[in-house]
Amino acid sequence: MPTSLAQRLSAVAPSATLAMAAKAAQLTAQGVKVYPYSVGEPDFPTPPHVVAAAKEALDKGATRYTAVTGTPDLKAAIVDATLRDRKHKIEPKQITVSVGAKHALFNLACALYEPGDEVIIPAPYWVSYPEQVRLVGATPVIAETKEETGFVLTPEELERRVTPRTKALILCTPSNPTGAAYSKDALLALAAVLKKGDYYVIVDEIYGDLVYGGFEHCSLAALAPDLGERLIVVDGVSKTYAMTGWRIGWSITSPRVAEALATIQGQSTTNPAAVAQAAAAAALRGPRESVEQMRSAFERRRTLMVEGLRKVPGVKCRMPEGAFYAFADVRGLLGLRDGDSRLETDEQIAMWLLREAHAATVAGSPFGAPGYLRFSYACSEADIQGGLAAFAAAVERAKKA
Ligand SMILES: Cc1ncc(COP(=O)(O)O)c(C=O)c1O
Repeated sequence: MPTSLAQRLSAVAPSATLAMAAKAAQLTAQGVKVYPYSVGEPDFPTPPHVVAAAKEALDKGATRYTAVTGTPDLKAAIVDATLRDRKHKIEPKQITVSVGAKHALFNLACALYEPGDEVIIPAPYWVSYPEQVRLVGATPVIAETKEETGFVLTPEELERRVTPRTKALILCTPSNPTGAAYSKDALLALAAVLKKGDYYVIVDEIYGDLVYGGFEHCSLAALAPDLGERLIVVDGVSKTYAMTGWRIGWSITSPRVAEALATIQGQSTTNPAAVAQAAAAAALRGPRESVEQMRSAFERRRTLMVEGLRKVPGVKCRMPEGAFYAFADVRGLLGLRDGDSRLETDEQIAMWLLREAHAATVAGSPFGAPGYLRFSYACSEADIQGGLAAFAAAVERAKKA
């Protein structure tokens, strides 16, 4: 039919995170106080010096097209920040600046994957990884991780999933949704298997600066330089600098892949907004105090959230190393009474929690982890305490019902 939608859409699911956000927004519009545990962005404003730099850039004429893959100034700032924060020495010609890290990942999907290709994605995964792979007609291959072993991919499980059709592995550290991060030893163990392969290894380090309790974020690129051109890093300013709305992320690839990305971006979005690039450069070069203030606030909230969740009957929660998510095992709530029926899935638990405690979370199933709920602690300490008290009270009511 001439007016039908493209076939490729049939394989792709809409964003689950956004669906919950829409339901929570409906309640908020009715005047209900909703505990905002579903959000995936810092609740802090962009640091004032970054906003000031953007205003100044506008006054100086940052209103036009820039080079397709980013300004030389932003690329220079990324080179310096990557060495400072990730111990990874790169050159400007390896960088493609895009409209957020999500766009950088999508451009990579367009540049690298074809129908028949397999892309290994450890579960629990960020929802967009498998969907982007499907959008370009390739096949996501889900690798299991276990909570008992810290939600990190083991070399054995990786080896089990590699086939002659493997085109890439996507790692996320620290992870959305689990908050789990790969230690140096975990990465070195994986690197031993990766070295034997001939597929791309894409590491999403967007939460790399948000680690807690003395955990040290390690970059695979710095630890295993012999992976060479197969190693790709995705990074950005959205989370570290509270800049989600500015939409600046980037990939670090071989110059050959960067050229392919330039072609794709040059025929689709062209450059990300000039003013946002100037702001991102100011964020990367600017004072670190605001980053540390946000990080230490997240660290306090992490403890409050995880310890609070552990007090809710039927809920277990691992202490995550990074990001701003607690990933709670809520299988102990299955079977609780909900009106005339009983809670049978994590999706039902998430909707019940929104209704009964006005807490907006995201169910684990869309992340490939049935029986779990993701609680974002990118909200105030009062919101964490209030929502968890309401959660515990709802469980007690349901038990008596
Ligand atoms: C793991 C992960 N990667 C990438 C992104 C995308 O970040 P950006 O806002 O830069 O597109 C997100 C955002 O939620 C994320 O959680």
